[in-house]
Amino acid sequence: MFPIVRPRRTRNSAVMRRMVRETSLSTDDLVYPMFIVEGTGVRTEISSMPTCFQESIDKAVVNAKEIHSLGIPAVILFGIPEHKDAEGTGAYDDNGIIQRAIRAIKAAVPELYIITDVCLCEYTDHGHCGIVSEGEVLNDPTILLLAREAVSHAKAGADMVAPSDMMDGRVTAIREGLDDEGYTDMPIMSYAAKYASAFFGPFREAAESTPQFGDRRAYQMDPANRREAMKEVALDIEEGADIVMVKPALSYLDIISDVREQFDLPVAAYNVSGEFAMVKAAAKMGWVDEERITMEILTSIKRAGADIILTYHAKDAARALGG
Ligand code: PBG
Ligand code: ZN
Repeated sequence: MFPIVRPRRTRNSAVMRRMVRETSLSTDDLVYPMFIVEGTGVRTEISSMPTCFQESIDKAVVNAKEIHSLGIPAVILFGIPEHKDAEGTGAYDDNGIIQRAIRAIKAAVPELYIITDVCLCEYTDHGHCGIVSEGEVLNDPTILLLAREAVSHAKAGADMVAPSDMMDGRVTAIREGLDDEGYTDMPIMSYAAKYASAFFGPFREAAESTPQFGDRRAYQMDPANRREAMKEVALDIEEGADIVMVKPALSYLDIISDVREQFDLPVAAYNVSGEFAMVKAAAKMGWVDEERITMEILTSIKRAGADIILTYHAKDAARALGG
């Protein structure tokens, strides 16, 4: 009549819950995204991403020190150049905004691991992730430029490159480009399964990278597709990716789980701007407990199978974790 098996027995004290806990989130898992702009003394809060800023290099250096002191191992850098053009030349300029930011942060905080986002959309005047001709984003000319961009980041001292464009064959192009220049040990973390998502909305304000016409559906994945993600990940691994990423994270936990099951590489997940903005907005309204919901979200991404989580919550989470 009464139950013999009682799952509550392993739940009824904090110490027991601690002992049987299956997933633990650590500051070691986190990567903090940063947006770098020209100028000095600039620190402009992104309205849809409270606590995140567009920062000039001097301010980014101060922030990098704080990020490092919180125990966060890595940052991913996004650059917003002063001038944009059709070919996104600022992206592969050895003296571009990101290249200078890498050098400055490396000089000030050498232990902080620097990942760079490799894409053209922040640097093109049309806001697309590649070279455009007659309203179409051209694949093959784009991957040559992405390889140049990656090499330029490597030369500046980046530790890892992360291509986010979703062009076909870009991992091969970047790998060959890096190897030809002697950067055979530089890892590539590919945005392997990246979906054409409305959750990127706030980022485009932050990075000033909204496409001036059309959308990214001809290169980013259809949110309805699950099996296709395995094809994308398998291809990137064949091409030499060292870490594969799923993006966004929260609406794509099934994809993270599938990638974890089917492949043995480290898996990263990008807890994107729109996911962050929803939490911040609801917290501001007093509708949710911000710290609890943040930790629950990050834990769920880890539980789904991510080893690395790129998140705007990284500083808050590191503080909550006692960093
Ligand atoms: C650039 C890029 C984007 C994001 C990361 N790299 C935007 C996009 O593809 O439109 C999104 C990050 C976020 O929303 O937090 N290709
Ligand atoms: Zn892009």
